[in-house]
Amino acid sequence: MQLKIYKTHHDLSDAAANEIVELVNCKSNPVLCLASGDTPKLTCRLFVEKAKSQQLDLSNLTFIGLDEWVGVPPENNGSCHYFFRHELLDPLDFPVKNVYLFDAMSGDLQDECRKMDNAILEKGGIDLMIVGIGMNGHVGFNEPGVLFGNYSHVIDLDETTISVGQKYFKTPVNLQKGITLGLNHLQHSKKVLMLANGEKKSGVIKKTIEDEVSPAFPASIMQTHANGLVMVDEAAAGLLKH
Ligand code: PGA
Repeated sequence: MQLKIYKTHHDLSDAAANEIVELVNCKSNPVLCLASGDTPKLTCRLFVEKAKSQQLDLSNLTFIGLDEWVGVPPENNGSCHYFFRHELLDPLDFPVKNVYLFDAMSGDLQDECRKMDNAILEKGGIDLMIVGIGMNGHVGFNEPGVLFGNYSHVIDLDETTISVGQKYFKTPVNLQKGITLGLNHLQHSKKVLMLANGEKKSGVIKKTIEDEVSPAFPASIMQTHANGLVMVDEAAAGLLKH
């Protein structure tokens, strides 16, 4: 794992957007997995700008959404679906056939997990995964205590996730479960970027990098990834020893 510290959130988002550009330019059938949330929003916006100005050919790019709130419909503007559609897929006119998102309204969520795992397998695995980090150290909805070996699964959300998650919604919602790719997917992604910005993330970034690797703090798995890069701004790096 490597750590890179950027001056601002904009600088790290620009670098992350360039990683997606490079992926598209260098690989014939690239597979990108992205998190939603406040952290990667600017990365998405900058990538959309770059893709348009450089006229990138995205026809062979596969897009995978990292997770979704169970029971929240795609048209709810706090859903991950809504984020991906509005921040990335619609502005890029992204081909629907190349998009894989969990249907968290499905009556058979286990089947959703199976479909996602099979799609990733068939595409030859994830080339680039870009994730954020939660205030409890979660990655996607891989909550504290999760097994590192998990593939896609449905999980009871941690109390921190339930309360922090309200920030995405206009009115309070009853959040209880999430559906998410597993940390096995992260471990086997060819490259992983973990993004964090702002002082409020400085504590969890310190734990991610300096504490022992443990399922009790899922983001610590980054330490074990040979091609993992933690990208933070100066504020999020504020508590690091070195
Ligand atoms: P945020 O969410 O980017 O909105 O801070 C991160 C996360 O919970 O994974």
